[in-house]
Amino acid sequence: MRPRTLLSIFIAAVISIIIFEISDTKDYTSLPSFWGLMVILSLMILILSSIGDLVENARFGAMNDLEKKQYLEDKATPYFKKLWNSAFKKQSASEEKSLLIDHGFDGITELDNALPKWWLGLFYFTITYCVIYLVAFAFSDYAHPDAEYINEAKLQAAAIKDYEKTAPAVSIETASYSADNIAEGEQIFNTNCVSCHSQGAKGGIGPNLTDNTWINIKQKSLFKNVFWMLENGSPNNPAMKAFIKEGIITGRDAEKVAAYIYHINREKNPVTVAQGGAAPQGTEADWQE
Ligand code: HEC
Repeated sequence: MRPRTLLSIFIAAVISIIIFEISDTKDYTSLPSFWGLMVILSLMILILSSIGDLVENARFGAMNDLEKKQYLEDKATPYFKKLWNSAFKKQSASEEKSLLIDHGFDGITELDNALPKWWLGLFYFTITYCVIYLVAFAFSDYAHPDAEYINEAKLQAAAIKDYEKTAPAVSIETASYSADNIAEGEQIFNTNCVSCHSQGAKGGIGPNLTDNTWINIKQKSLFKNVFWMLENGSPNNPAMKAFIKEGIITGRDAEKVAAYIYHINREKNPVTVAQGGAAPQGTEADWQE
């Protein structure tokens, strides 16, 4: 009779495969489904082992005395020694004869060897795994790409929030122009500024921000001048609020809006009166950058 795999080895192998599979799931030990799976698996392994015991007893009962003696001797050999021996064991000529399948071609014949247990184990495992995976995929969030995406997106949003909390605030000294901020700056402009400065900042209640005439020239560079306005508001007209100081937008947002205004003012043509822009107000500015 072939040696049976030790129960402890079987359990260790199954559990390590499962843990390896789910080890990138965050804190799986707190999931009830994980422990449920462990219990079901343990029960299945115990049932398998008991069936193995029954089969072994039945076979033992059917043996003659010589076979029984041989069997008990086999059983006394430690499991790993048996494995070691079997790795180097060669079938005797008579054993081979009984395994020979009675067909051949061009002198090529076949032996009806039993499949190795580890191979069969893997085979059954993949079948079981496939069923579990398909059911989980169809009816639960486990391994579902949509659920994984939503989860990742949530984590990322939380990480960004965290970053915003701890990142140093952007001030007029540290703010700098970046073309990457233009698109986001436009969004912030459309939310906070468009009511007075109109679409594309062509001017309305507030002045035209696309031309080169400025009422407030507080800084040498255009980018910093816009930031200054957002930090301090207009000294002449309370309608233009100190957006940063009043906590309406953050310095980080101001850096983005300023990039947008810089872009439409310096890198695009002004929106003229003929095109629906507000008439120039203030004096011609001579920005250093
Ligand atoms: C409630 C209306 C209102 C809103 C909203 C508003 N502004 Fe203004 N803004 C004005 C007015 C009015 C002025 C002119 C101030 C003055 O005369 O000094 C102005 C001036 C400015 C100036 C200076 C222009 C110059 O010629 O000196 C900038 C830059 C500016 N606003 C940017 C913004 C940005 C960016 C936002 C959005 C975050 C914004 N404003 C929102 C009304 C507004």
